[in-house]
Amino acid sequence: MSSEKTNQSWGGRFSEPVDAFVARFPASVDFDKRLYRHDILGSQAHARMLTQAGVLSEAERDAIVAGLDEIRGEIEAGTFEWRVDLEDVHMNIEARLTERLGVVGKKLHTGRSRNDQVATDIRLWLRDEIDAILAELDRLQAGLLQLAETEADTIMPGFTHLQTAQPVTFGHHLLAWFEMLSRDHERLVDCRKRVNRMPLGSAALAGTTYPIQRQVTCELLGFEAIGGNSLDGVSDRDFAIEFCAAASLAMMHLSRFSEELVLWTSAQFQFIDLPDRFCTGSSIMPQKKNPDVPELVRGKTGRVFGALTGLLTLMKGQPLAYNKDNQEDKEPLFDAADTLRDSLRAFADMVPAIKPKREIMREAARRGFSTATDLADYLVRKGLPFRDCHEIVGHAVKYGVDSGKDLAEMSLDELRRFSDQIEQDVFAVLTLEGSVNARDHIGGTAPAQVRAAVQRGRALLAQR
Ligand code: ARG
Repeated sequence: MSSEKTNQSWGGRFSEPVDAFVARFPASVDFDKRLYRHDILGSQAHARMLTQAGVLSEAERDAIVAGLDEIRGEIEAGTFEWRVDLEDVHMNIEARLTERLGVVGKKLHTGRSRNDQVATDIRLWLRDEIDAILAELDRLQAGLLQLAETEADTIMPGFTHLQTAQPVTFGHHLLAWFEMLSRDHERLVDCRKRVNRMPLGSAALAGTTYPIQRQVTCELLGFEAIGGNSLDGVSDRDFAIEFCAAASLAMMHLSRFSEELVLWTSAQFQFIDLPDRFCTGSSIMPQKKNPDVPELVRGKTGRVFGALTGLLTLMKGQPLAYNKDNQEDKEPLFDAADTLRDSLRAFADMVPAIKPKREIMREAARRGFSTATDLADYLVRKGLPFRDCHEIVGHAVKYGVDSGKDLAEMSLDELRRFSDQIEQDVFAVLTLEGSVNARDHIGGTAPAQVRAAVQRGRALLAQR
């Protein structure tokens, strides 16, 4: 049977066309066509290198490079006809090139294989995605610094076990998110180094007999290093797994952040307002304003964890070198990158729009005996052992619960019932301002420390 009836790229050794379903089942073009730009970049670099290596003439190279540029134009104009029978993005583009150039198009694939081609494409694609994600992270972090600076003096309850623990400044709370995101940034930058190594030249698995010059393609494509082993180059997807791990951690952080926004916008907390554009109403309950964006980010986190688990599982049983299993790397990886990028974008847009309700936050901090530890620390400074102070303050809090008074609302006489070491200067300690101002060290919640941390954060962003 002629090769027109079977697949034109590998049909030579086959004697019957594949079953219609089997033709569709292995195809990846529906999802891998989004690699087209990187596939074309890789092919153009490969053609240029082949000319330097004396395999293609300059005229052939020029025809291929220009032909690929035109194909990119067709794809972007929406006039390119994607064919499922051509399986994937690589064969679709190559077939079109051959349609346009004739025999010259068929020379492009000299000295390479789809195995090193696809490994190269994914790395080029992921490198760009990471850069876009890092840009969104920068934007979100800059927004957090701005809000933290404005809210450096705003007092809210800090929680442990979701019970009021000690007063903190809202700026300090926001900077906790800044720290987490800084580590996410570091992880992605580090991951990018290992993404940015070139498998091109590995060919199918063993390298190629042509005198290829891998340093040429490496430089043309902006890779930092050349993969040192062809079998590894075509087969491992650890870089994609590593990205999904870093993305999972970042989504875990955004999910926790989301949970706080959901709590804070509730009628029970009312710590913040989110503008209407990040919320939706209910079709049945007219009073509702639901914090959809944070809820969705929290929900989408599961997809990214799923991608990580999926890719680990995909790789764990594979012998060297390339196996068709690897085609399953793309959808989870694409989905993880899209989800992280969109979630960061949503947060970068939303954070500057957060409107804190300062009076309500302050009142919540005042109500929960949040300065009890400050009273204990005060008694320690008067010379009592901490455990005794803890007990004394426990009695005072019990009295406060029964009488409906916060510690700062009790008279000196009332307080002295619990310890005669308590004097007039106690009130400076029991106020919310006294409490936060006293935690005045690197990483502490004092407004002065928040301002210093904002400056450090700005310096960090500036040197990226
Ligand atoms: N579409 C394939 C993938 O995504 C390209 C590589 C196929 N190689 C092969 N020898 N079948 O992995």
